[in-house]
Amino acid sequence: MADFSTVCRVADIANGAAKMFVVNGKEIAVYNLAGTFYATQQACLHRNGPLSEGDIDGCVVTCPWHGWEYDIPTGEHLVDRKSKLATYPVKVENGEVKVAA
Ligand code: FES
Repeated sequence: MADFSTVCRVADIANGAAKMFVVNGKEIAVYNLAGTFYATQQACLHRNGPLSEGDIDGCVVTCPWHGWEYDIPTGEHLVDRKSKLATYPVKVENGEVKVAA
């Protein structure tokens, strides 16, 4: 497994929001869901829409381009559960958010 890389501080992503970071050359969307952080690939499975710019409702992100919806913790598409975003381990240490990708 890849090493964890620091992407930001906890305070940099508001509750219910997301931001995109590049980790080891991969575009990763990092989400703050009520203080727990998750990471998925940034590109939507449909046509590579930017998921970090999507609306977040509970644990679901909606792609801003055409509305595909994903469960953030598992990366699963809400309708077609076999379609799945890549997800990445996240940990918080000393106020820093770290992603292994
Ligand atoms: S690119 Fe995400 S729904 Fe079309």
